[in-house]
Amino acid sequence: MKDLTATYFFKAKSGVTPEFASQAICEEQTTGTWTDISTVNQSTEYVHTYDGEVLGVEPFNDGFITRIRYPYEIFEPGNVPQYLSVIAGNLFGLGKLEAVRLLDIDIPKELAGSGAKFGIDGVRKLGGTEKSRRPHIGTIIKPKVGLNPKDTAKVAYEAALGGLDLIKDDETLTNQSFCPLFERLDAVMDSLDKVKHETGKKVLYAVNVTCGGDKIVELAEKAVRAGANMIMVDVLTAGFSAVQALASNPQISVPIHVHRTMHGALTRNQSHGIAMRPIAKLVRCVGGDQLHTGSISGKMGGKADEIISDNRAITENFFDLKPVFPVSSGGLHPGKVAAEISGLGREVVLQAGGGIHGHPKGTTAGVIAMIQAMDAALENIPAAEYAKTHEELRLALEKWGN
Ligand code: 6PG
Ligand code: MG
Repeated sequence: MKDLTATYFFKAKSGVTPEFASQAICEEQTTGTWTDISTVNQSTEYVHTYDGEVLGVEPFNDGFITRIRYPYEIFEPGNVPQYLSVIAGNLFGLGKLEAVRLLDIDIPKELAGSGAKFGIDGVRKLGGTEKSRRPHIGTIIKPKVGLNPKDTAKVAYEAALGGLDLIKDDETLTNQSFCPLFERLDAVMDSLDKVKHETGKKVLYAVNVTCGGDKIVELAEKAVRAGANMIMVDVLTAGFSAVQALASNPQISVPIHVHRTMHGALTRNQSHGIAMRPIAKLVRCVGGDQLHTGSISGKMGGKADEIISDNRAITENFFDLKPVFPVSSGGLHPGKVAAEISGLGREVVLQAGGGIHGHPKGTTAGVIAMIQAMDAALENIPAAEYAKTHEELRLALEKWGN
């Protein structure tokens, strides 16, 4: 089918039937409005081709679930902001509804775009894990903001020495005066080159290029020319178009790490807002290579079954678009690695900030402990057991528990 189908949960205001409410969403987002209009008459009847269609309404929990079909023609292919105005626009403010949440979207091939340049396999190739297919281990430099370029690079060096796959900026770190982006990038890449020379391990560094739409492509191109091997962008604050502009630019020949800061404002309320699923699917369409989708056992809210299905949505076959590497992050430490792997599988990036830099023996030992925890989980050995012969893991479990 060429059309797009969206699934919503909603609660209608008292006195409003569920059928009326879902029809109101459908009409508001397509050809209709709250009343009959004189501009739809015999000669303009063709506009009804573009009517939406309510495919069903069913009771669910304390409300209803409805599916709405939006005709392909009302979308402008490739214009994701416009897609959002249709599927996630005015409907959230409709007075007849108490609450409404966009749960999922089925995007047809014609509207899906071309997706990522690298995807999971491309990122794995860069990290040398395409055969082992083990999870990637990553860290956020901590303190998340405040360090100068030299000290950021020192932490990066220590982390890389431990053998991890990815180092990334925090979402709040961009190009502030205490840590100018290009000075930081140069210093961190020097550290990573040094480690490559010393240990042979290639580490990716996602430098956060999030900024205004008038500058982001130029900034990212410049970062790539300056040696960046990955860039990072905050998709909800910068916009889906920012990711799309970066992904579709041939000069930007590195993977894009997509952070979802601000998502909780949309995703957290179970009755109202936008679930992670549609956000994740659209990130796949616009070309993100890695995307934060949440952790099962970490510090942020989020339901395990939703996260597992969100990860499936960005990794399963979807036309010819590459799968996106899901990132699990927020409050992780070695004691939580087994739970993450057993819930999320091996196709995941496990990121820890505090859970690495807070290790009693420092950052390098923190990374080693994370890797030991991963090795234990992949071999189905309980972390506590493995810790008997692995000192770094033992110290981590002693501090944070299992
Ligand atoms: C990121 C994370 C981040 C997360 C923590 C991670 O920057 O990549 O998503 O926003 O919530 O800051 O750090 P901890 O491992 O210390 O929780
Ligand atoms: Mg962060």
